[in-house]
Amino acid sequence: MNKFYLTTAIDYVNGKPHIGHAYEKIMCDVIYRHFTQRIEDTYFLTGTDEHGVKIQKTAEKRGITPKELCDENSSSFKATWADLEIGYTDFIRTTDERHKVVVQKIFKKLVENGDIYKHSYKGLYCAGCESFLNARDLTEDGLCPDHLKKPEEVTEENYFFRLTKYKDAIMAHIKAHPEFLQPSFKVNEVLKQLEDIEDISVSRNKNSVSWGIPVPDDDEQVIYVWIDALSNYITALGYAPENPSETFKKYWPADVQIIGKDILKFHAIYWSAILMALGIELPKTICAHGWITIDETKMSKSLGNVIAPADILKNFELEKPDALRYYMVTSAPFGRDGNYSDEDFKEKVNADLANNIGNLLNRSLNMLVKYFDGEIKPEFIKDGNDIEKAGDEAIENVKKFFDGYQVCEAANAIVEFANTVNKYVADSAPWSLAKEEKMQECGEVLYNVLEAMRKIAVMLYPYCPNISKEIFEQLSADMNIKYDEVANNKLQAGKITEKTKIHPVFPRMDSEFATDKKKAK
Ligand code: MSP
Repeated sequence: MNKFYLTTAIDYVNGKPHIGHAYEKIMCDVIYRHFTQRIEDTYFLTGTDEHGVKIQKTAEKRGITPKELCDENSSSFKATWADLEIGYTDFIRTTDERHKVVVQKIFKKLVENGDIYKHSYKGLYCAGCESFLNARDLTEDGLCPDHLKKPEEVTEENYFFRLTKYKDAIMAHIKAHPEFLQPSFKVNEVLKQLEDIEDISVSRNKNSVSWGIPVPDDDEQVIYVWIDALSNYITALGYAPENPSETFKKYWPADVQIIGKDILKFHAIYWSAILMALGIELPKTICAHGWITIDETKMSKSLGNVIAPADILKNFELEKPDALRYYMVTSAPFGRDGNYSDEDFKEKVNADLANNIGNLLNRSLNMLVKYFDGEIKPEFIKDGNDIEKAGDEAIENVKKFFDGYQVCEAANAIVEFANTVNKYVADSAPWSLAKEEKMQECGEVLYNVLEAMRKIAVMLYPYCPNISKEIFEQLSADMNIKYDEVANNKLQAGKITEKTKIHPVFPRMDSEFATDKKKAK
């Protein structure tokens, strides 16, 4: 792998960002940061999806123009990603000129190739899904299963994309490339959806939806949702049907496109077909994550349980997002649904970040100061001990998990290694060794622990960049080393710390205080 291109779903701007959106962006940022530790050329794309009937209607209700609504909410997404330290390379908005122009070119090319045709259509349309539904997919009461609303019967003449033409090719691609759809337990679901596909409507009459990119050479129609939204992954790179940019040639195909499980069908099937129709390679992997619930309940405006990431940071008086980042991506194993609760958040980060990792560093650095004036003596450094081996193994395991985008599993491997090191400290009791004046042994133990901490800081960096930086600083270690060089790049002998430099990298969250604060609201 000599480049890495990662994309997120682009969020609808008819509302503000919540922790469901944040879950995905944090997961992507963690994956991205890990790969920046391994690969020189990396590109991370996110953005906002700004056209469609929902946005048009929300703006109407608020008495503002759709563009004003988009500007306002797109800025909220950007501000939230800044709070969470999401380090994207590029943020695309589907109202950007660079996007709109190319979407029209793509549409035109698909018409010229015979992949898009005009057709009169009568169907059941769900505004929530922004797509037509099949009668057999509705609930017993005739409602959309996702939005629990009755779809409207809509008759329209509009443009259709020949999805059915690509059915066999997509099926063959999925079967020939086991890495294409992740997690693998999603494959059968997609194959089943493929069996039932029909051509899809890709435009709407201006009378029903005016907020969209105009269909080229047809004043009556606007391009509808999926061709517009999905194309962002290539328009951002400067793709154009006739003269794709150098950036596009360099980064496409995407290494991984991460999206929620609700929109897997649109990516695995619609997006694959559009790319095939344009003669462009498919992404290497499409990865569908699960959904986040709040206190085990689906988040919804009507239940009033929608939580914004900034509220959590504020509530717990967290200046840095590390704890929230860590908690969110470890709340569910790969591809499964997760849950957020205040209690669980406090417990998990206190246990893993404050107690397990933070204390380990704090105790061992304090001992190094107390017994050796903060200095690692050359004779403390011994190769091939068990902790060194366990650390090297953890580095390999974490890497393997990231190769499969298993962010939660990789974090568990880091914590497991920290557990092993904590047990090693308890078993070898360096404080007793010092008391018995076995200073050489005591120094060896402390060195092994601090060197293990350096490895933990490398592995933890994608999740908790600030905590990781703190650990490096307190160890006087270089944080700018490549992941694959970590095992060979050991802590050097010399004075690495002094008393004034040592402080907890992550203080326990004071649960009483946080609860009182909330009560006072
Ligand atoms: N605009 C489309 C995506 C187009 S991609 C070309 C869309 N937008 S969305 O705002 O509804 O969702 C954006 C992403 O956030 C999706 O991947 C979706 O699955 C994810 N999530 C929205 N709510 C979520 C949770 N409660 N939990 C986890 N992810 C959630 O779909």
